[in-house]
Amino acid sequence: MSGFSPEWLDLREPADHRARDSELGQQLSAYFAAHTHVSVVDLGCGSGSNLRGTAKFLPDHQSWRLVDYDAQLLTLARHRLVDWADESRSEGALLRLRKENKHIDVSFAEADLTRDLAQVLTPAPDLVTAAALFDLVSEPWLELFTAALSAAGLPLYTVLSYDGRQEWQPAHPQDGRVLRAFNSHQQWDKGFGPSTGPRATAALAGLLAMHGYAVHTADSPWLLGPEDSDLRRELATGIGAAALETRELTPGEVADWLAARRDPGQATIGHSDVFATPRLD
Ligand SMILES: C[S@@+](CC[C@H](N)C(=O)[O-])C[C@H]1O[C@@H](n2cnc3c(N)ncnc32)[C@H](O)[C@@H]1O
Repeated sequence: MSGFSPEWLDLREPADHRARDSELGQQLSAYFAAHTHVSVVDLGCGSGSNLRGTAKFLPDHQSWRLVDYDAQLLTLARHRLVDWADESRSEGALLRLRKENKHIDVSFAEADLTRDLAQVLTPAPDLVTAAALFDLVSEPWLELFTAALSAAGLPLYTVLSYDGRQEWQPAHPQDGRVLRAFNSHQQWDKGFGPSTGPRATAALAGLLAMHGYAVHTADSPWLLGPEDSDLRRELATGIGAAALETRELTPGEVADWLAARRDPGQATIGHSDVFATPRLD
């Protein structure tokens, strides 16, 4: 198992889908408007949330390859997609779905992106996508990734990279210190070398622009209100645990911050989306 539990992925999916920038979704839609079919690779697919959030922007016939290094999450993705679809049938390892007017074939690949990137991008799809992934990767990995993307002339659509901004209501005197500690923890190694963390979108957009891509970015914050109390509580617990690991706050200070987060309230957690297309010379 990776560090991403099925419970956490289930909890965040509605907030993720609400947060995505719709304008970039429309741009993605327009880009493939002339296609009847599109092939897509989803990097770090988890339980398949990105497919469920993106399929509506793509042509009626789609083939997705879902990639993750966590075999249990790939199995979960298959179950969650069957539950989501209006109709589903398995043909060997292939899952064939219909959701409204979309016909979606899904294959699943267990692969480690730190090692198997070339294999994951072969055969080249029409679109590479990922959700909540690029803040986990390192800058050297992003360099390799964007070079591979550019060499194959592939567009990229990615959503929900954490951007380092948080606002919690009611405010607490330790908010600033907890946020600084959490953001520094976000830059620890998550398997790819030191993570880009809150700098993910800036780093990705900069590299893609260097490769001559047209790059569009947009904010996609989680806006968490009273109906998201379970997600807010889990998020606060995770932030508190990370802040504690940095040793920038004492256990008492973190406990005090967490106690305040048990109250009903609101939170805005910054994310951003990117849609980047290779310029045609
Ligand atoms: C934050 S979760 C996002 C999951 C999903 N994209 C979503 O939006 O719900 C990050 C995902 O990346 C996967 N992942 C992390 N490091 C990976 C690696 N080195 N190779 C492949 N997958 C990886 C994890 O297993 C997890 O499913």
